[in-house]
Amino acid sequence: MIRTNFGLGAIKVPMAIKISGRFKLLHWALLTFLFLGLSRCLVLAESNSCVECHAKIGKSDPSHPAHSFIEWQNSIHAKKGINCDACHGGNPSSKDVTLAHKNISRSMDPGSSIYFDKIPDSCGSCHVQELEGFKSSDHYKELNRSGKGPNCVTCHSSMASHVMTPRELESVCTLCHRRPTKAYAALLSLQSSRKAIDQLRNHIQEAKIKKVETEAQSTTLIQSEKNYQEALKIWHTFNMEKVLEVAQELNHRVRNAMHELDLKGQGIREENPQRK
Ligand code: HEC
Ligand code: HEC
Ligand code: HEC
Ligand code: HEC
Ligand code: HEC
Repeated sequence: MIRTNFGLGAIKVPMAIKISGRFKLLHWALLTFLFLGLSRCLVLAESNSCVECHAKIGKSDPSHPAHSFIEWQNSIHAKKGINCDACHGGNPSSKDVTLAHKNISRSMDPGSSIYFDKIPDSCGSCHVQELEGFKSSDHYKELNRSGKGPNCVTCHSSMASHVMTPRELESVCTLCHRRPTKAYAALLSLQSSRKAIDQLRNHIQEAKIKKVETEAQSTTLIQSEKNYQEALKIWHTFNMEKVLEVAQELNHRVRNAMHELDLKGQGIREENPQRK
């Protein structure tokens, strides 16, 4: 879940502007106002001094610490307009280094928004659901108590530029845990339930075209999508057994529903052999 209270999302376009003679002037005034407002936002979105200046440094110095400019540029965050200041602070409208860097502190500084134990809250200012799960985990407690729990960056790196495979995840867990954590099975099952839900949606669409009755399976689809979101919520508590349980149950139900549709589809073909 993403909280999007930044960027262009805040602009509300009045839906019902009446364009009769009397209102024409008002209409144009409104349109001009909206246009100016919009173009100002676009200009603001484009000219971010952090990005402009660091693009130049990035090119001359690829050995940027922690993450490179290129890594940011290729990340989902850059694509969604999440610029340097969203995580580092500072003043993105000043072109002067000192002014732009006001209030930025390094990750080693305990007051920094990217100090290791502040990272969850910083990332979580947008990733609300993930933070909520994470806060109820032993990892969060341990991060604040002994500094030994993982934070978001341990698994996602600061740029979240890579979606982990189940095997990679398990090897992250075994950095700190000797016993198996079930992370491999849980992530595998979660990913396969995502695929299964999408397949069921396609199956239902195809079945509808063939005039197969799909009500029960459509209900399963809605319920499964809900359970999937539930499993995602549980994920960041790292109770892998629970995730596995929800995902496996969901997988089973979705595959049954697809099987039912296949059988019904065959039934119809046998009744109407001319129909393919
Ligand atoms: C006019 C150029 C310029 C602007 C504007 C600028 N920076 Fe920098 N920044 C630099 C230089 C130069 C360094 C130091 C060289 C390096 O480490 O790559 C630096 C270093 C940093 C560092 C490392 C911290 C440190 O103390 O070494 C961070 C984080 C950073 N900038 C973030 C930002 C953010 C966020 C913005 C916008 C709010 C921004 N910068 C705007 C030039 C700029
Ligand atoms: C999604 C959040 C996020 C964005 C966006 C982001 N950074 Fe970072 N950055 C981090 C985190 C977290 C760290 C430190 C943790 C780590 O990866 O080791 C970091 C570390 C750094 C460092 C190393 C200095 C230090 O204090 O350790 C520099 C320099 C830096 N970032 C510059 C930038 C610049 C320039 C941009 C924009 C082009 C940017 N960052 C965008 C999260 C972000
Ligand atoms: C200012 C808001 C903001 C902050 C701060 C932020 N993110 Fe994001 N993040 C986003 C948005 C927006 C997306 C894109 C979501 C989408 O399109 O569904 C995203 C996507 C992601 C994804 C999904 C990547 C994928 O391939 O689907 C991960 C993982 C992630 N962020 C981790 C982090 C981490 C770790 C931090 C802190 C270092 C962080 N984010 C900080 C807004 C933010
Ligand atoms: C121990 C490893 C680990 C830690 C710590 C961790 N994550 Fe994740 N996270 C994952 C894995 C693995 C996935 C992929 C699960 C999936 O398929 O959705 C994921 C998924 C995500 C997603 C995408 C969710 C979606 O809807 O698909 C976001 C965003 C995210 N994490 C943000 C965070 C934030 C923010 C934190 C810190 C508060 C954090 N993560 C801590 C391992 C971790
Ligand atoms: C940076 C180290 C670190 C990483 C990486 C890490 N953990 Fe942990 N984890 C801890 C610490 C420290 C504790 C609390 C002490 C304990 O119970 O061992 C903990 C506790 C837990 C607990 C609760 C206690 C228990 O034994 O039931 C679970 C569950 C857990 N971790 C699962 C995972 C999973 C799954 C992964 C990988 C996705 C993972 N951890 C990755 C450090 C880590």
